[in-house]
Amino acid sequence: MTARRYLIAGNWKMHCRQSDGAALAADLAARVGPTADPRFDLLVCPPATIISPVSQAVSGSAVAVGGQDCHAQVQGAHTGDIAAEMLADAGAAFVIVGHSERRTNHGESSATIKGKAAAALRAGLTAIICVGETEAQRDAGQAESVVAEQLTGSIPDGATASNSVIAYEPVWAIGTGRTPTLADIAAMHGMIREKLSGLVTDPGAVRILYGGSVKPSNAAEILGLADVDGALVGGASLKADDFWAIAQACP
Ligand code: PGA
Repeated sequence: MTARRYLIAGNWKMHCRQSDGAALAADLAARVGPTADPRFDLLVCPPATIISPVSQAVSGSAVAVGGQDCHAQVQGAHTGDIAAEMLADAGAAFVIVGHSERRTNHGESSATIKGKAAAALRAGLTAIICVGETEAQRDAGQAESVVAEQLTGSIPDGATASNSVIAYEPVWAIGTGRTPTLADIAAMHGMIREKLSGLVTDPGAVRILYGGSVKPSNAAEILGLADVDGALVGGASLKADDFWAIAQACP
C-alpha cells in the first residue's frame, strides 16, 4: 500500500474575526511547532478576509492555511469573487472546492467545481475537492453512483496526489452530529479509490478525507479505516482542544 500522510483540515466556514482567528491559529501552531508530526499535516481554512493574519499567526510552524472557495478565472469583472491566485497571495496553500454548502447554497455544478479546482492547480494550490450524497440519495440507494458522478465531473485534468485531495462528506452528516456507519464510510472510500483510476495519475497516493460530524469521540475509529487518509472538520475545528484531539487520533 502507498504510504499516505494524514491530512487533518479545519473548515472554519463563516466563523472568526481577525483576533480570535489568529489566536486559534497561533494556539495550533504552538502545538504543532516547526516540524509536522510524522503522522499528519494540519490545515486551517479560515474565511478569506483573515487568511493573511492567520498565515502570519502560523508562520514558522508546520500548520498550513487554505481558502474555502475560489473563482475559476485569474482576474476580471467578478464582483465578490476571489481568484485562487489571490488566496495564494494572501498565504494559502490549499483551497476547498465544491463543499456541499457551495453546491447547494450557490448552485455550483460539478462542471463549475472542476473549473475552480483547475484554477487552484494553476495557482499552485492543493485543491480539496468535496463530494457527497444527500440523505434522499442514500435512502434511494444512489450514494455511490452520485459520488462517482461528482468525482468524474469535478476532478480537473492534471490532478495528482500532490495537488489534489478528495473529501467525502455525506451532506446529511455535516453539522448534524450524525455519521454513516464505519462500514458505509469504508465502502465509499474504497469505491472512491477505485474510481480515481483514470481520473488522476497516481490514484493510490491521493488522500481521501472523510468529513461530516467528525469529533474527538469518533475520530479514532474513522481515521483507523482503510482508505481514510484524514478528516475535513467543521464545528470541532473551531476549538483548538477538539481539533488537536482529532489530529492526535491519527493512527
Ligand atoms: P462538521 O462540518 O464537522 O461541522 O459536520 C464538516 C464540513 O462541512 O466540512
